[in-house]
Amino acid sequence: MFELIWSFNSALAWLIGIYTFVHSMCMITRCLIRNFIRKPLDLTQRYGKGSWVVITGPTGGIGSEYCKQLAKQGFNLVLLGRNKQKLDDLEAELKRDHPQLKTKIVVADFGEDISPEFYEKLYDQMKDLDVSMLINNAAILNSGFFEDSPIQDLISRANLNMGAPALLVRFFINDFLKRGNRTAIINVSSLVNVFPSPFVREYSGSKRFLSLFSYFLHDNYGDKIDVQDLSPGMVSTNMAGNRKSSDTISAEHCVSSSLRDLGQEFCTVPSVIHSLFGQVIFVCYRYLTPVFHGVIVRGAEKDTLASYYRKNKSRVFGEKPS
Ligand SMILES: NC(=O)c1ccc[n+]([C@@H]2O[C@H](COP(=O)([O-])OP(=O)(O)OC[C@H]3O[C@@H](n4cnc5c(N)ncnc54)[C@H](OP(=O)(O)O)[C@@H]3O)[C@@H](O)[C@H]2O)c1
Repeated sequence: MFELIWSFNSALAWLIGIYTFVHSMCMITRCLIRNFIRKPLDLTQRYGKGSWVVITGPTGGIGSEYCKQLAKQGFNLVLLGRNKQKLDDLEAELKRDHPQLKTKIVVADFGEDISPEFYEKLYDQMKDLDVSMLINNAAILNSGFFEDSPIQDLISRANLNMGAPALLVRFFINDFLKRGNRTAIINVSSLVNVFPSPFVREYSGSKRFLSLFSYFLHDNYGDKIDVQDLSPGMVSTNMAGNRKSSDTISAEHCVSSSLRDLGQEFCTVPSVIHSLFGQVIFVCYRYLTPVFHGVIVRGAEKDTLASYYRKNKSRVFGEKPS
């Protein structure tokens, strides 16, 4: 009897191993094809030349790069951000480089309000435009101790990272479904959505929400709407402390990968290295829990604590990481 259970268990372990290996190989092959072989679609033809792209957080690293690349392709832009001065500066810069470009500035702080009236007012400012693409990009990353987070900050971040994408999609989706051409929704998630990242607190959970929300949209509306779940690893922007190293990619690389895959791929990880890294973490998380905890979680914890101590020198907490 024991031998039977043992041989069943080992057969099961082999099957899981083979499945994981084949799954990883397929992911890697797809990643190589999309990075080195396949050509991007003609987006203006697909979504309509001169149509409008609504982008949240356009003043950040990834957001402003979307603006530059989409303006170059002939789209018009709704710059939906919280800081009027930064939005004006961005608009001026974009118009200097692309004199034909039409823009509309909409000011909104998504952390402040999540009421239906707030979103109705936003939507009213955009509803007469032929919007062909919505890019849910604005988000905030906070690391540190969950138990120290002020409640209002948690609410604001939930409003921004999850509420805004869901509600903007809700307000636009009926227009998108009625539109003659196809439309697109890009949700900027993160590689940290694949595992529970310590000290990044609810951020990785909010990105998981966004990835699953994208999956739902793709499943339900994929015949009319191109949905993209963009899950980058570290990108050299403000959010990542503008860090430039072998494990970061530029915002330009991140956005060109997103636009290269749009309409052809549901989930995009913009770098082969990040893609491999994501696969390794995923396999460790699922099947090699001690390795996941010992190496990945502890490594991330050390990094996060070190940056936390740099920011909060006065806080006394256990042993200071080296
Ligand atoms: N950088 C990375 O390593 C990385 C990795 C994976 C995923 N991502 C994702 O990429 C997206 C863009 O991030 P980024 O790297 O470009 O960061 P970023 O440079 O910090 O830009 C963040 C953008 O969000 C806007 N924003 C922040 N709080 C807001 C609020 N309450 N209401 C409205 N807008 C608000 C910011 O506006 P202000 O300019 O006014 O502050 C800025 O435009 C985010 O969704 C992020 O989670 C980034």
